[in-house]
This record gives sequence, structure tokens and C-alpha cells, in this order.
Amino acid sequence: MIYSQLRGIGHALPGNPVSNEVLAGRLAELGIETSDQWIRERTGITQRYLADPTTTTSMLAAEAGREALAHAGLAASDIDLVIVATSTPDIIFPSTACLVQKRLGIHQGPAFDIQAVCSGFLYALATADLYIRAGKATNALVVGAEVFSRLLDWRDRSTCVLFGDGAGAVVLRAESQPGILAHRLEARGEFENILRAAGGVHGGAIQGHPFLTMEGQAVFKMAVESLESSARQVLAEAGIAPEDLGLLIPHQANMRILQMTAKRLGIPMERVVVAVDRHANTSAASVPLAMHLAHQEGRLLPGQTLLLQGVGGGFTWGSLALRLAPDFA
Ligand code: UT7
Repeated sequence: MIYSQLRGIGHALPGNPVSNEVLAGRLAELGIETSDQWIRERTGITQRYLADPTTTTSMLAAEAGREALAHAGLAASDIDLVIVATSTPDIIFPSTACLVQKRLGIHQGPAFDIQAVCSGFLYALATADLYIRAGKATNALVVGAEVFSRLLDWRDRSTCVLFGDGAGAVVLRAESQPGILAHRLEARGEFENILRAAGGVHGGAIQGHPFLTMEGQAVFKMAVESLESSARQVLAEAGIAPEDLGLLIPHQANMRILQMTAKRLGIPMERVVVAVDRHANTSAASVPLAMHLAHQEGRLLPGQTLLLQGVGGGFTWGSLALRLAPDFA
């Protein structure tokens, strides 16, 4: 049997962190009232990274990808599949994955983007796993990357304080031991209106509303429900009891969502990776950035089981269970 084994992790965060206080000051200049206290209490966010106007998604994705390749001990010539999850591509086409392939000097295999908003990294990772298990790829680079700040309406305080920019990347390698144990992706397009950026390009002009809009409470409720049910299904499929799970690494949108999901599953917060406080919500980048943080903090251990979870616009969600290799470092 062929399995996908996690062999490398990388990250990229643009510039310096912007604290809630600094952001509140900038918004005050626009006549928008918010506070560190509101943002902290409602979301757990204390800061975010915001890309400057010259930084693109493919730049962040390539930086994260380069670090993941180095961690895996692989060269660009070893990679035969590139998937980038993003909702903020550099340009309409070619795909951000093709631009990353070019930036990293990868000259073989397919490269394509996946658009599933905040579930994008889970969709990309599950897709790469299917390629590897089908024998169609040996070393896959899977990236979640966003400059989500470009989609924000800075006059809408209910959304603009919540998001940040960044990229996270992993390398999956075909091996004889698992690796990825189980995954499940879901979408319910009938709820497309609760979280969207409903603008498009038509005849050289933007048509519609090109900024992110969200019905926060509807998204919150669906996120908690879908994360719990999806976790239960995938953990059962992987043969892992929630109390035996090593680490839960969910999408980082709101500290309260993380706490409620963990409580419903009976998983103590010490076994949940929290990165929303320092990265805010980086959409498709949030799960690999949280994984990278856990790795930096020495929390990813050989043989450990992880449950990764994404949820967001579409409405989409997904979970993936994996076991780190006995020699993972
Ligand atoms: O990545 C995809 C997944 N996304 C999510 O999971 C996000 C899910 N939703 C949420 O995290 C929460 O719903 C929010 C953080 C977005 C909002 O929290 P909430 O507790 O649902 O607040 P709310 O929308 O009910 O707003 C409460 C109050 C309102 O004032 P009134 O009407 O009670 O007077 C808002 O106008 O807070 C006000 N408010 C703010 N006040 C200060 C909204 N945004 C702000 C702000 N600063 N930035």
C-alpha cells in the first residue's frame, strides 16, 4: 500500500504584526470605532500580519514552500505535484500554483489551485493524498496562502478586524506507512450567501461587491456544528478515540469556536493548537500556519496523531487525521 507521509512544514508571515491597538487607531482615522477589548473578548485575536501592496500570495506561498522543502530534505526537482489553496490569487490566471512552481524552479508534474476559502488547505491536502495513494505523485507540495487583507472593507468593523495574511506549506511523500489515515470533505452551496466576496471581473471592470461580507453568527453556528460532526466521523474512520488524539489543529477563526469544538469533543485545550491570537484568521493559510507554530514550539512528536480541520465559505468544511512518522523531527 502507498500512503502519504508528512515530511516538511514551512511558513511565511509578511512584515511586522499589527496589534489590535494599532489597527483600532488606523480605523479611528476612518471614523470607525473598535477596541482591543472588543476584538480580544469576541475573538481571542490580539494581532495580525498585513501584507504591503507589493507582496503577493505567490511570494508568500513560495517562501513557505521553500521552507517546507528544506525541512523535508527535498529539492525542487523532487516535487511532482503543487497544489495551492487560495481565495486571493495574484492574477486571474495562470494559477497561483503555476506561479509558485516558477518561483521555486519546479519543472515537472501538475500545478493547480483549489478554491474552498477557509477549508481550502484541507481540500488541497486531501486531494494531494488521493494523488499519492493512486500512484500519480511521489512528493507533493501543498500550500495554503492568502493576502486576505485585499478583500477587506476597512469601513466594515464587523469583518475587517478578523483577518490577516500569510502562508503555510507542507510536503507529503509517498511511503509504505501511514501517514494520512482518513479524511472527509463537505460542501453545502445553498449557504453560499453567509460568507462571500461577491465581485467578479466583467469586460475589464469589477461587477458586484468585491469585499468580504459575513453573517457572523450564522457562520459561527455552522462552524461549531460541522467541526464537531466532521471530527467524529474522521476520528472514527481513522480508529482514534477523541481522548487518544495527540493534537487538534482546527481552522483559526475565533477562539470561542476552538473552545466550543474542543469541549463538545471532550478534548482539553492543552491538546488544541491555538494560533488565532497571533495570526488572526488567515483563511486557507490558517491550518498550516498553526501546524508550523506547533512544530516551532516542539509540540509535534514522532508517532503522534493529529486532526486537522477547515471550515468556511461555500459553505465548506473538512477534517483529516494523520499519524506523524516515527522519525518525524
Ligand atoms: O473563516 C471562516 C469562518 N469564520 C468564522 O468562523 C467567524 C464566525 N463568527 C464569529 O466569529 C463572530 O460571529 C464574530 C466575531 C464575527 C462576531 O461576534 P458576535 O459575538 O457574533 O458579535 P455580533 O456580530 O453579534 O456583534 C455584537 C455587537 C454589535 O453591536 P450591537 O448591535 O450589539 O450594539 C456589533 O455592532 O458588536 C458590535 N461590533 C463591534 N464592536 C466593536 C461588531 N464588530 C465590532 C468591532 N468593534 N470590530
